[in-house]
Amino acid sequence: MRDFFPGLAGVVATKSNISSVDGQQGILEYRGIRIEELAAHGTFMETAYLLLFDELPTSSALRQFEEDLLIHRRIKYRITDLIKCLPESGHPMDAIQAAVAALGMFYPATNVRDPEARYWAAIRLLAKLPTMVAAFARLRHGDDQIQPNDNLSYSENFFYMLFEQKPDPAIAKMFDTSLILHAEHTMNASTFSGLVTASTLADPYTVISSAIGTLKGPLHGGANEAVIHMLRAIGSVEQVASFLDQKIEAKEKVMGFGHRVYKVKDPRALILQELAQHMDKDQKPNSLLTIARAVEQEMEQRVGHKGIRPNVDFYSGIIYHQMGIETDMFTPIFAMSRVAGWLAHCFEQYQHNHLFRPDQIYEGPHNRPYESIESRKPSTSAI
Ligand code: CMC
Repeated sequence: MRDFFPGLAGVVATKSNISSVDGQQGILEYRGIRIEELAAHGTFMETAYLLLFDELPTSSALRQFEEDLLIHRRIKYRITDLIKCLPESGHPMDAIQAAVAALGMFYPATNVRDPEARYWAAIRLLAKLPTMVAAFARLRHGDDQIQPNDNLSYSENFFYMLFEQKPDPAIAKMFDTSLILHAEHTMNASTFSGLVTASTLADPYTVISSAIGTLKGPLHGGANEAVIHMLRAIGSVEQVASFLDQKIEAKEKVMGFGHRVYKVKDPRALILQELAQHMDKDQKPNSLLTIARAVEQEMEQRVGHKGIRPNVDFYSGIIYHQMGIETDMFTPIFAMSRVAGWLAHCFEQYQHNHLFRPDQIYEGPHNRPYESIESRKPSTSAI
């Protein structure tokens, strides 16, 4: 009997130089640099450069990188038309997945061995994703799309495209820090999904649209949105204990808790919690943050001994909510940031490619007869 690891838990899928996690000590590094350092001193642009090029940029390299991104922020009117045609009730993750796949039709990058093609695909994806996210956020409400503002930084410009005004510098900085913290995380589900697609030598746009599809699920990036729905459903600090008892009794997952690798509190959650506290200085009795902190305390008593603690998605949504961003935009914002890590893994995969083609253990029957249609019985299998 061959070994089978459900969910590929503990199976090594690749060798990588991009990031590392120590799940026992709660350490996350990008290219060997602790995320606490990057969050305290860096910007998302520097982080994206670091992930792609293995070094923090010199000032001239950063200037060139930012200029290249700046001139590619706009999207073709046909992409805007495509976004306009999508149902306004649809999830924004589906909209950006479709828009990213369509980008690849406008800017073919099929020669994945060509470093120039890879560079410009990376620039376009990083630069245009925020524009596409903001476009869907506005167009679905019947509002005009706001064109990128070339005088604003990456994070300021995203707010400008969403709200038609420049954010307070402190808000822009906190948002940028959140992007830094979401930019990369070793071999998670969406990165692996992108890697599988890259291993077929599909172009980077196709790779990123695969990864976006995987990020959407509530067990992965979709958890940041699910956390807000959960905190709203709890409604008050008094309800926290009974809510958690019911969930745990029913063996249901509490959103924003647990991780395949971390057995201590996710280091990203620690920083995001600080940012959320900074934004909610009043700590009103039943604010989302106050309820969240009560959930964390009660969860520690119930499942802390199993190593189930807040993950990155527990506090990030609270920050975006405090910034006035709509709940279903949280996972697309995660994608805007994670595209940096996905691209780094995609390019690493192209460089030492080996097609992913795992095996399975077949458990069905063999040699079944082909029955005539008259003698067949209705299927009792559920799909
Ligand atoms: N709430 C309650 N119990 C949990 C939770 C949770 N959030 N997570 C794990 N457990 C329990 C689970 O019930 C099981 O208990 P037992 O051994 O008694 O049956 C044990 O812990 C192991 O759970 P598992 O589902 O086998 O563990 P996993 O490594 O497959 O799960 C996870 C990882 C992230 C899928 C899971 O913790 C989960 O579903 N969490 C909620 C969704 C979430 O917050 N996802 C975001 C993940 S991190 C960031 C990201 O990827 O975006």
